[in-house]
Amino acid sequence: MREIRGKSLSLLIKEDDIRRRVRELGKEIEEDFSDSEDFVVVGLLKGAFVFVADLVREIDLPARIDFLWVSSYGQGMESSGSIRIVKDLDTDIEGRDVLLVDDILDTGITLREVYDFLKIKNPSRLKTCVFLDKKGRRKVEFEADYVGFEVPNVFLVGYGLDWGELGRNLKGVYAVED
Ligand code: IMP
Ligand code: MG
Repeated sequence: MREIRGKSLSLLIKEDDIRRRVRELGKEIEEDFSDSEDFVVVGLLKGAFVFVADLVREIDLPARIDFLWVSSYGQGMESSGSIRIVKDLDTDIEGRDVLLVDDILDTGITLREVYDFLKIKNPSRLKTCVFLDKKGRRKVEFEADYVGFEVPNVFLVGYGLDWGELGRNLKGVYAVED
C-alpha cells in the first residue's frame, strides 16, 4: 500500500487508462486546431507539467509550449481563494491560438482568473483543457473545452497533482484516504 505522510493512497485511475485517454484528447485537439497557423500550449505550473508533457506529444501539429505559474493552493488541501501570478509567459500570445492546460478543475477559481488574464493578451483563440474535473466542487462558473476524466470530490495526488508538494511523480491518480 502506497502512502504519503502516513495517509494511505488508493488507486483511482490507472496508468494505462491515462495513456489511452491522453491520446484521445490529443487527437481531438489536433483535429480542432489543424487549421491553426500559430498554436501555443500554455501549461499551469506546477501541477500540469506531467499532463502537458504527455499531451503535446499526442498532438501532431507545430506547437509552441510555455508555462504560466500561478499560486492557488498552499501546503494543505483547501483553496486559498484567489490567485497570484508567480511567473508570467515568455511567449507573446497575441493573435495566436492558445490551449490553456491545467491538472484539475476544482472550485474553478484558478482557471476562471487565468482565463481572464490570458484573454487580455488578445489570443485569436483560447481553449481550455484539464486532465481532471471535480464538477461537484465548483464555486465559480467555469467549464473546460476538453476534460480527461470526471472525478469525485476526494483529494487526489499523482500524475502532477500534489499534496504539499508530494505525490506529483506517481504514474497513476490516487485518492488520499482520510
Ligand atoms: P481551483 O482553483 O479550486 O479550481 O483549483 C485548481 C488547483 O487546485 C489545481 O490546479 C490544483 O493545483 C489544486 N487542486 C484542486 N484539487 C486538488 C486535488 O484533489 N489534489 C491536488 N491538487 C488539487
Ligand atoms: Mg497544486
